[in-house]
Amino acid sequence: MFKQLNRLNPDAILGLMAKFRADPSPAKVDLGVGVFRDLAGNTPVLECVRRAERTVLAAQTTKSYVTAAGREEFNAAVEALVLGGSHPARSGRRVRTVQAPGGCGALRVGAELIRAAAPATTVYVSDPTWGNHIPLLGSSGLRLERYPYYDPVTHELRFEAMLERLETAAAGDVVLLHACCHNPSGADLGAHQWEILIDLMQRRRLVPFLDLAYQGFGEDLEADVAAVRSVAESLPEVLIATSYSKNLGLYRERVGALIVVSDSESRADAVHSHVLQIARSIYSMPPDHGAAIAACIFADPELRAAWVGELAVMRTRIQDMRALLARHLCIATGEDSFAFIEAQRGMFSLLGVSPSVVDRLRDEHHIYMTSDSRMNLAGIMPHNVAYVADAIAAELGAGGARMKIA
Ligand code: LMR
Repeated sequence: MFKQLNRLNPDAILGLMAKFRADPSPAKVDLGVGVFRDLAGNTPVLECVRRAERTVLAAQTTKSYVTAAGREEFNAAVEALVLGGSHPARSGRRVRTVQAPGGCGALRVGAELIRAAAPATTVYVSDPTWGNHIPLLGSSGLRLERYPYYDPVTHELRFEAMLERLETAAAGDVVLLHACCHNPSGADLGAHQWEILIDLMQRRRLVPFLDLAYQGFGEDLEADVAAVRSVAESLPEVLIATSYSKNLGLYRERVGALIVVSDSESRADAVHSHVLQIARSIYSMPPDHGAAIAACIFADPELRAAWVGELAVMRTRIQDMRALLARHLCIATGEDSFAFIEAQRGMFSLLGVSPSVVDRLRDEHHIYMTSDSRMNLAGIMPHNVAYVADAIAAELGAGGARMKIA
């Protein structure tokens, strides 16, 4: 049977992670996989997580099953964190939330729910988007289309082109949107653009599917979900996939949730029954440990305050490195065209160079980024920033501006 199977290329991001680990060069710089790094290059366990983990382990009396929906208190806290305490969809009892194995699990369950409800739905994903969106959603069997979002050469949003494309979507089609800190571009819609988009989705009767993997990495926990809250107030049906990999640093514990807003309480109950069945048929139940830690932090005012502080430290470090790299690139290249790196938000920006420049940065300078020239700015440190900027300048200089994608 397995004779039919040819060997596949490794996943673009995970394959890069393996290549970086195997590179013996002491000069190597990892701007690849999206994990936070501190100034020593480590991805630390947050202090609030360590404390919550001790509490969880001390209180735990059983490893017996929880449920297909995961922990009730986690789900309630996630809903409040994302939608706020008094969101009309919550008071109208139109929201159902289930814990999922990471943001990926939530996205996949959401895709299966869409397919169960309306198998002919097309899901529109941004161009560019996170490398795993297409496999995650596409392998549910849904049809995928792209909408223009960002131009890596001009470093600008393509908002008009995005609207134009979405005007052609059929009623009921789904639009996958990055709630904040767009991956890979770091370029988010402004408040006014969200309003225009919401109006379009209402008019065209489109269903938003929001991917919220970086709450707290843009501005803060509240500001980063302002658009999510408006979307969930304005549209009758909304899906939201959340992840606690980045903002709680719980990457390997796989902690996420799928929030679904329906147009009535009874429909929400029906939707929930399908979500539970989908979860049961894929992985049965989500892993508990990370969600128990997260729930403990969300519920304890002291731990929560500690978390907000640690999150601010992570966010500020990345913002500082954005400014530092932009400055070093201007000095190294003699060009003043890198301000976009400082202005963008979250972990990533697209350098906007061709895959062959990306290859040379990796092969000759041991600087790792994905082939679309996505850089994880958390990989920049004061001790490596000049090295990275000089290497980029050298490679751009080799072909001048011609080496840029244009
Ligand atoms: C990334 O975008 O690099 C992260 O979200 C890690 C992953 O799973 O791809």
